[in-house]
Amino acid sequence: MIEEGEVKIEIRDFEQYKGPGKKKAGFYNPTLEIDRDINVIFCQYIANKGAKKMLDGLSATGIRGIRIAKEVKSIDVHINDINPASYEIIRENVKKNKVNVKIFCENIHSLLLKEKYDYVDIDPYGSPVPFISCVFKGLKRKGYTSFTATDTATLCGIYKKACIRRYHALPLSGQAMKEIGLRILIGYIARQTTTFEYGLRPILSYAYGHFFRIYARLEKGARKADETFSKIGWIFWKNGWRISSFDRLPTPPFAGPLWIGKLHEKNFLNEMEKIMTEKKLGRKKEIEKMLRIFKEEETLPPLFYESRYISKEMKAKQPKLISIIEKLRRKGYDAGRTHFMPDAFKTNAPYDEIKKLFLNQ
Ligand SMILES: C[S@@+](CC[C@H](N)C(=O)[O-])C[C@H]1O[C@@H](n2cnc3c(N)ncnc32)[C@H](O)[C@@H]1O
Repeated sequence: MIEEGEVKIEIRDFEQYKGPGKKKAGFYNPTLEIDRDINVIFCQYIANKGAKKMLDGLSATGIRGIRIAKEVKSIDVHINDINPASYEIIRENVKKNKVNVKIFCENIHSLLLKEKYDYVDIDPYGSPVPFISCVFKGLKRKGYTSFTATDTATLCGIYKKACIRRYHALPLSGQAMKEIGLRILIGYIARQTTTFEYGLRPILSYAYGHFFRIYARLEKGARKADETFSKIGWIFWKNGWRISSFDRLPTPPFAGPLWIGKLHEKNFLNEMEKIMTEKKLGRKKEIEKMLRIFKEEETLPPLFYESRYISKEMKAKQPKLISIIEKLRRKGYDAGRTHFMPDAFKTNAPYDEIKKLFLNQ
């Protein structure tokens, strides 16, 4: 029996592991507790905006849906898993936690042809790619969705061929590869979104441990879809990070197509803090710390610089992160931390200005 938020969940054959974990009925991954906490905050945020009917589409133990049903008030929660053994575990956990939810044992592709939701969560093993298109069948004209990806090595360019095959995008390993990987994931989801004539706006997108996660708002309409597609482009390195639009293929090294728009929505970040104070969350302290950094990076351009790479290039020692950021700000540039890496920073300063800080310490 494990406790998370306000629920108690029975886990069979529980193993303490870090990373994606092993596939089995009633799968439970403790690393994702932080995201389930964030999921509760997110669902409260969208419930406050009128979202009512929510689906935990790939549920395993039921934990996500049960937490949402118990910790977010006045909503209808559906919980689904294709595996009959998981379905039985979900039923027991729902009973134990005395929540009023509807449980399904269906392939999510068929469930989403029958029901329409305000919010659909997709938390699969590995890549969410096989589950993206079905979301548009079961979502209202305006709705919300979230996706997890644990195939981060593929998205970050360690398995380049797999990234091309699965996400139809060129990755770039090395500096900033985590953000490039997350942007490839969002870019792929956004391209699927526009195919179905929906527009997408990320509300929160982040990398943590072995997973990427994106929470987004979707809205039907050709104009919304066009707006979304205008945020698909390329990133390339030319004496510093640069971005270009979809119709301007840069010269190598480059990555994409990927998402060149914002990763987070400011309004959500502001509301998160308020919502958190009302909830019992196991990982609250860590989320508060992450939130401070999300707020910093929300105002800054795509991609970040890693001090260790610049130190190596300049054959100079690594300055303190805070000193780099303060010096850049004093020179009139925007600069701040990023949640992707502890020794990295985002800035709109030209790369030559950045390099000077490593020489003149
Ligand atoms: C990673 S687990 C979900 C973990 C869970 N969301 C959590 O927070 O602990 C993925 C689940 O998706 C289920 N699944 C896989 N394919 C499915 C499909 N086509 N339809 C519905 N469920 C599916 C698996 O049986 C498995 O239980």
